[in-house]
Amino acid sequence: MAISVLVGTQWGDEGKGKIIDVLTKDIDLVVRFQGGNNAGHTVEIGTEKFVLHLIPSGIFRKNALCIIGNGVVVDPLALEEEIKDLLERNVAVTPANLELSTRSHLIMPYHRLMDAMHENARSEGQKIGTTKRGIGPAYADKASRTGIRALEMLDLERLERRFREQSEYYNGIFVGAGLEPMNIDEEWTKQKQAAQFLGPFIKDAVLTVNRAAEAGKNILFEGAQGMWLDVDYGTYPFVTSSNTTTGGACTGSGLSPKYINEIVGVMKAYTTRVGEGPFPTELKDEEGDELRRAGNEFGATTGRPRRCGWFDAVSSRYSCMVNGVDDLCMTKLDVLDDFAELKICTAYEVNEKIVTDMPSDNDEITIAKPIYETMPGWQAPTTEARSFDELPENAKNYLKRIAELVKANIGIVSVGPNREQTFCVKS
Ligand code: GDP
Ligand code: IMO
Ligand code: MG
Repeated sequence: MAISVLVGTQWGDEGKGKIIDVLTKDIDLVVRFQGGNNAGHTVEIGTEKFVLHLIPSGIFRKNALCIIGNGVVVDPLALEEEIKDLLERNVAVTPANLELSTRSHLIMPYHRLMDAMHENARSEGQKIGTTKRGIGPAYADKASRTGIRALEMLDLERLERRFREQSEYYNGIFVGAGLEPMNIDEEWTKQKQAAQFLGPFIKDAVLTVNRAAEAGKNILFEGAQGMWLDVDYGTYPFVTSSNTTTGGACTGSGLSPKYINEIVGVMKAYTTRVGEGPFPTELKDEEGDELRRAGNEFGATTGRPRRCGWFDAVSSRYSCMVNGVDDLCMTKLDVLDDFAELKICTAYEVNEKIVTDMPSDNDEITIAKPIYETMPGWQAPTTEARSFDELPENAKNYLKRIAELVKANIGIVSVGPNREQTFCVKS
């Protein structure tokens, strides 16, 4: 029995969707445990490309039951649309292969409006650059104990009462801020129809996950976002509103930590970030543009250009520690194929001091100057490699050096967006 948690170790978009799809070949249950439709997980199968936001990336495997756990915040309209889009593309999504936890909290239209209102109210330098999907305000309502949960969609009268109460409350805030109030009747019509559509998918997924674990099934937890967007460990306040790290898998699904026996950290061979916040190795020059072009670094959810930079071993080592990474999955190695030289950040200089552990204070991360070591590139294609031995010598050395610096083993390497462009590394 393998019960694994897969997490992003950087600022998201490490290629989690692709790796989940590869790993789910023999998996019985794939569980999303946090985040919402701020996530954009890309899966390429043959010539087809899918971008998933809420539905776990195991949906393409007939053997896998997909769970949206209680730690996820779910926009019912977005989930309905995602299911319908997949159905139109002949991907089976039914209550037999997708369950929505009774306990997951709903993102309501007023959360999306609040998200936009907060962002607009923040001055330059304070903006988070959220995806404007209502994630933060929905988690805030959960913590304030005013959230609406998926189970309430099973009783339309109750849902309507709760929806109208909360909408009236938020309309008061919008009007007070000089904004247009929501049209509650119109919004309710949409919510009612989505609730009817999603009803059959709503189950007590805590039971499903625990029964599967007791029966010795293989379970894979699919993290969204990445370590540095975690609300506790990330570059706060420039973070998302959930625990993106491995601990979140248990609170976000109801499975005890005693069952988890493997932790996979997905790590890009360089670094990217979407949205605002500190990014010590960011390249604001032609090399950054070259990484963006070669890696096609544009947000899968918002289409925003991703900020790009060199590999950062300081933040990545801290990330492997917090997540307890057993095996690293290095993605997008092929993106570096044409570079003559590659840099790896091994330390920061902060206030004239050398720092090798990621600071907790965002102000220090903001002024951190990266100290680099330079490695020769390989300037040869890696996209056809199907084993570590087939990689150019300098590519092997680059990966070995990263593994040494972040103190983790390399278990999988990805050299292209397709399923086939992946191989395991035996240690
Ligand atoms: P996620 O959010 O972690 O699932 O990652 P995204 O899907 O947002 O972004 C990763 C992007 O890189 C997607 O467009 C993937 O198709 C692509 N990708 C994943 N692995 C590789 C790889 O090894 N090489 C290349 N060139 N692209 C990859
Ligand atoms: P995946 O799962 C990259 C970023 C946003 C913003 C911050 C807060 O595809 O890796 P939010 O809407 O969550 O309140 O925004 O978090 N962000 C992501 N960046 N990948 C993601 O998901 C992200 N989800 C949120 O850009 O900086
Ligand atoms: Mg993404």
